[in-house]
Amino acid sequence: MRNAPPKTNPNDPCWCDSGKKYKKCHQGRDLLRQLQGLDAEAPATPAAPLGFAPVRPGKIAPWRSVPAHIVKPDYSFSGKPQGARHKNLIKGPEQLARMRKACRAAREVLDEVCAAVRPGMTTDELDGLAHEGYIKRGGYPSTLNYHGFPKSVCTSVNEVICHGIPDSRVLLPGDIVNVDVTIYLDGMHGDCSATVAVGAIDEASAKLMAITRACLMLGIGTIKPGSLIRDIGRAIESHAHLHGYGVVRAFVGHGIGEMFHMDPQVPHYYDPAATFICRPGMTFTVEPMINQGTWKHDSWSDSWTAVTADKKRSAQYEHTILVTEQGVEVLTLADGEQQPFAF
Ligand code: MF3
Ligand code: CO
Ligand code: CO
Repeated sequence: MRNAPPKTNPNDPCWCDSGKKYKKCHQGRDLLRQLQGLDAEAPATPAAPLGFAPVRPGKIAPWRSVPAHIVKPDYSFSGKPQGARHKNLIKGPEQLARMRKACRAAREVLDEVCAAVRPGMTTDELDGLAHEGYIKRGGYPSTLNYHGFPKSVCTSVNEVICHGIPDSRVLLPGDIVNVDVTIYLDGMHGDCSATVAVGAIDEASAKLMAITRACLMLGIGTIKPGSLIRDIGRAIESHAHLHGYGVVRAFVGHGIGEMFHMDPQVPHYYDPAATFICRPGMTFTVEPMINQGTWKHDSWSDSWTAVTADKKRSAQYEHTILVTEQGVEVLTLADGEQQPFAF
């Protein structure tokens, strides 16, 4: 989900939705961050191999329909999700059973789509596979008309950071593509993503993908009852910076359940203000976007697609997790995968 805009006028409402003026709310803390150099560039990386053509928008195919028997989320017609993002953050056993089911289904769809990735396919074909995968399982494509998003999955190629709209662009050998799958099943959203190689890829891209996956798991490894959300970003950022990579700030992980995006916000960089405390029964995503170069982004005129400002590549992996009494359980593991932080 989209993070707070970096700059706000002092008299505008604060980016945190407190309803207070920016100057009365987060402005002081934001200024302090700047003075501490926390928004500074990551160390420069060697130039990415030359010769990658920039990703260009293709044609977006008409809306796919969802059969009448599929239960739809409240925004499916209006585009606008209802409900308070800061309420009902702790789930009970009945809710968790439904959460587990949605998350397992999301992972199955993700694995189906990723296994189908081949040079020569369009990203819209990936969208078609995801769309069928949700419906086959009795679920709704959570992204479809979410704030107006026109497709059933996000496909983010090479320098696209996130929220790429599946279109007529053909996947080329050497590309990397993030597939971000979210299903609404039994009243719960389950969200996960992975970046996969299209044919043979260059070594630098393979390394970016491996380190990004490590960042995800290092972030998740900090989670336990009483831990702070900012611990996640601290772990991710220090590993990414070790390798000279940039950590995207404009998009963050999010609480998830009956709502697609709810509290807490989960920055993947170290934000000293992210002091939200993890409690058993909370479910949220961790979904670091790690860049070969700068952390800064540009947006396409479609108002969805975010690309790296320097057009170097970006990778992302995402899990939905549950805070347990003992620590953390990953809800979007593939079938047969071991819980990474089991006791
Ligand atoms: N699945 C994305 C996430 O991880 C959200 C996509 S929202 C959309 O949060 F509107 F862009 F589809
Ligand atoms: Co996602
Ligand atoms: Co997410």
